[in-house]
Amino acid sequence: MATPTAQMYSEFTNPNLEVLISQQQISERIKELGAQIAKEYAGLNPLLIGVLKGATFFLSDLLRAIDIPLGIEFMAISSYGMSTRTSGEVRILKDLDVAIEGRHIIVVEDIVDTGLTLSYLLANLKSRGAATVKLVALLDKYDRRERDVPIDYLGFPIPDHFVVGYGLDFAERYRNLPFIAILKNPDEAQLGLPMSSSS
Ligand code: IMP
Ligand code: MG
Repeated sequence: MATPTAQMYSEFTNPNLEVLISQQQISERIKELGAQIAKEYAGLNPLLIGVLKGATFFLSDLLRAIDIPLGIEFMAISSYGMSTRTSGEVRILKDLDVAIEGRHIIVVEDIVDTGLTLSYLLANLKSRGAATVKLVALLDKYDRRERDVPIDYLGFPIPDHFVVGYGLDFAERYRNLPFIAILKNPDEAQLGLPMSSSS
């Protein structure tokens, strides 16, 4: 049951957040990306693969901006501990339900940071015999790149800040923000919440 106090609390105007990319900016950029993808993939019946959980918000808006026949699939991926992460070792928690041989794949990701996750995933999908594998990412935190990951369609390049919202979380919180925000003080955000390492 919500208490009167709980009803007054606004997560979206939480003072620990500084809006970096507004809801309107996101929606306008997605329309442009969708139109570009529709043009370049006409007649190819592309398969969009979303990376759980963060990219599902972006995927859901993006695919409604791509006005051609297409399919969608999801994968869940997790890196091992921080020490093995530097080796680029990642684990597939949920694999595709379909074969992708001969298909035109568009991987949909929320953010490319070090690039370790994506460089593994793109190579993995290519090895399954896909005709083409391209990447669309909403955000590119280019300063932190450790592996070269070509982003074929990019929403926004961003500086090196920890960002949340529109699918991106901090300890599973903030995915529901309709905009992208810089998390000013992560210690404060974490109070009373369980930590999680999922993407
Ligand atoms: P990479 O392998 O370092 O490129 O990691 C990419 C994944 O780390 C993303 O899919 C996100 O789940 C997570 N991540 C990286 N930077 C941020 C951030 O600023 N906020 C929230 N999640 C992030
Ligand atoms: Mg992710």
